[in-house]
Amino acid sequence: MEIIFKDVTADYEVGPIRSPLVLQSVNMTLKSGSFTAIIGHTGAGKSSLLKAMNGLIIPTAGEVTIGDVVIQPGKNKRSLKKIRKRVGMVFQFPESQLFAETVEKDLCFGPLNFGVPLKEAKEMARNVIELVGLDPQILTKSPFSLSGGQKRRVAIAGILAMEPDILVLDEPGAGLDPRGKKEILTIISELHRKRGMTTILVTHDMDDVALFADDVVVMENGKVVIHDQMREVFANLALLDKLHLDVPEARRLQLKIEHRTGIQLPQVCLTVEELADTLIEAGLA
Ligand SMILES: Nc1ncnc2c1ncn2[C@@H]1O[C@H](COP(=O)(O)OP(=O)(O)OP(=O)(O)O)[C@@H](O)[C@H]1O
Ligand SMILES: [Mg+2]
Repeated sequence: MEIIFKDVTADYEVGPIRSPLVLQSVNMTLKSGSFTAIIGHTGAGKSSLLKAMNGLIIPTAGEVTIGDVVIQPGKNKRSLKKIRKRVGMVFQFPESQLFAETVEKDLCFGPLNFGVPLKEAKEMARNVIELVGLDPQILTKSPFSLSGGQKRRVAIAGILAMEPDILVLDEPGAGLDPRGKKEILTIISELHRKRGMTTILVTHDMDDVALFADDVVVMENGKVVIHDQMREVFANLALLDKLHLDVPEARRLQLKIEHRTGIQLPQVCLTVEELADTLIEAGLA
């Protein structure tokens, strides 16, 4: 399912007043089945952009189109229930939203709310718990007795139980150890591939961008300043430098090697494997 932003401007209601604009004339199309990473400095508007994708923020001008639903100014938030089912949103630290007595009850809550019969919801809970790499025995436990990484997986499983067409993730690896983080992103990437789910990932980690994303959106001051294929973005050093954005570790190492040896490698390397192969081909290793 495609997501189209047309001239979207948005702000927040802060009590009786409005905040400054947090999205400014955003125009972009995220293709159906693509994996897009959203990067940018803190406060750039990444989370706000995600919220505009499932009706948590309604534009003050312009419109967001998701499949056959258009979110535009004046739209009643309640009328957007359909969108909430299609666009699964994993917030920053989603485990803070676990609430039920058991993992199973937590996972069944969303589907039951959308009218799925209990028996089916329970089957779904079992399926999604396996999808995120957890033992089904965990279903009878209290979510509060789990480790941080397990809680994060249960929270993601709860979103998958809704069978969304679009999966939106706000730093799903934040606060996890590097291995746990890699495992979660690998599971997400496999699901993306198998189910063809349009996937949008906010991250500060350029190695994750290089490993998982097809496309990259760079945000600055509520605006989309770059939207291009991942390799094109990391090839454009001058632009990244201007925006004070980092590059993947392997690319940084490549630049150092090129600087020291005076030899320019024939391709942009974004992973350690790519860099090793290219160095061998160039006779430098
Ligand atoms: N609930 C809110 N009410 C008012 N202003 C908000 C609210 N949430 C965010 N903002 C403002 O919107 C702007 C963009 O914030 P947003 O959370 O989208 O940034 P971000 O790119 O996700 O940052 P980070 O990398 O720190 O998560 C900031 O200036 C922020 O202060
Ligand atoms: Mg954010």
